Amino acid sequence: MPTAAAGQDASDVARELYGTPDEPTWPERSSLQTLPLSTRNLVRAGGPASSERDGTHQGLFREHCVTCHALEGSGAGPASVFQNPYPRDFRHGVFKWKSTLRGLKPTRQDIRDLLVKGIPGTAMPSFALLDPDDLDALVDYVVYLSTRGEVERRMTAAAVDELDYGTELPEAELRLASKASTEGGEVVQQVVDRVHAGWAEAAENEVAAPAMAELKSDELADSVKRGKEFFHGRIANCVGCHGPGGDGSLQTLDYDDWTKEYSTKIGLTPDDHAAMKPFRDAGALRPRLIKPRNLQDGVFHGGGDAASLYRRITQGIAGTPMPAVEVVQESNGKGLTVDEIGDLVRYVQQLSSPQ
Ligand code: HEC
Ligand code: HEC
Repeated sequence: MPTAAAGQDASDVARELYGTPDEPTWPERSSLQTLPLSTRNLVRAGGPASSERDGTHQGLFREHCVTCHALEGSGAGPASVFQNPYPRDFRHGVFKWKSTLRGLKPTRQDIRDLLVKGIPGTAMPSFALLDPDDLDALVDYVVYLSTRGEVERRMTAAAVDELDYGTELPEAELRLASKASTEGGEVVQQVVDRVHAGWAEAAENEVAAPAMAELKSDELADSVKRGKEFFHGRIANCVGCHGPGGDGSLQTLDYDDWTKEYSTKIGLTPDDHAAMKPFRDAGALRPRLIKPRNLQDGVFHGGGDAASLYRRITQGIAGTPMPAVEVVQESNGKGLTVDEIGDLVRYVQQLSSPQ
């Protein structure tokens, strides 16, 4: 369990390294600069909303995003309570709708595309009408908030696991510090390097989605039929969550990773209001069960095109219980081949647009 002492030091060091959401800065030490962000963009996106004389917009995040995502990107803004799913808490560094390997960050382009399209079926609107420069500034700022928040969270955990933080502060050498000259400072640097590297590596780890052939109607019908078998079969077992025909009829007992952290993962039942109270008082949203989607309604949050669905199936959906199907060279009873996944994609697509 993180202690108050660890949380306080982590918060102080995060401020030294990254400033505040209203006055963002980027760490200057060269070893931390694996991830170049435009400081000008950060300054434009942070702080109070206003316009300069030349028409440049300032405070873009407060203007467009804060009611849902909250100032520090916790996802617990004033409008969040009524939303399902909740707005993303950027501080975990976990994103759902992206083109990269499951455990990795999204690319800048993924975030930009998402801002343009919005996330259909959720409260997240489209920002297609914003200036391209404003969109770029917001992308940098999402990366900034996510990095700042994830570094703070990981520092808090490292303080307890590696640096002897308990209810009391440890000796000076072991305290979290923004300079690498002490053991505590080295631990901080490792955390920072790891989070920055995650963002820097994303672009090299996109999942290539194979081009899917246009099929004639009888071939398409055969492909969909095979896809249906995989959907209901033992290997992919999509039916186990999405119900027969993807109708979303099954009960669910699982939470997403964001709310699991202060519920089932530490042995709390969200119905136990007394036990949940300290977490709620600290700003945590009420945990909600995550529902496997009804795939017949045709609303895809991350895109219903073949490439997006191929990535969803071969990676699963990060932060949620949806698992990945292993891609294999030849059918072996453990995974599906690229062609077989193509069949599954076509089946999922036609669930919402039956022939
Ligand atoms: C009306 C509420 C609302 C507003 C305003 C809003 N969002 Fe969101 N946002 C959401 C919700 C809800 C989700 C979660 C969707 C999901 O889980 O599928 C989300 C998710 C996201 C994600 C994560 C996507 C992923 O792949 O996991 C990003 C990034 C994001 N929003 C950025 C922004 C930015 C930047 C702005 C302002 C320009 C903004 N949002 C404005 C509600 C909002
Ligand atoms: C362990 C449960 C589980 C299994 C197994 C599972 N899913 Fe899911 N699936 C989910 C959950 C939960 C969501 C909702 C995620 C969200 O919106 O946060 C989801 C969402 C989806 C979506 C919506 C994506 C979007 O862009 O909106 C598709 C498509 C999908 N699943 C297809 C499949 C297919 C095909 C299989 C089998 C290969 C499968 N799922 C297996 C739990 C599961």
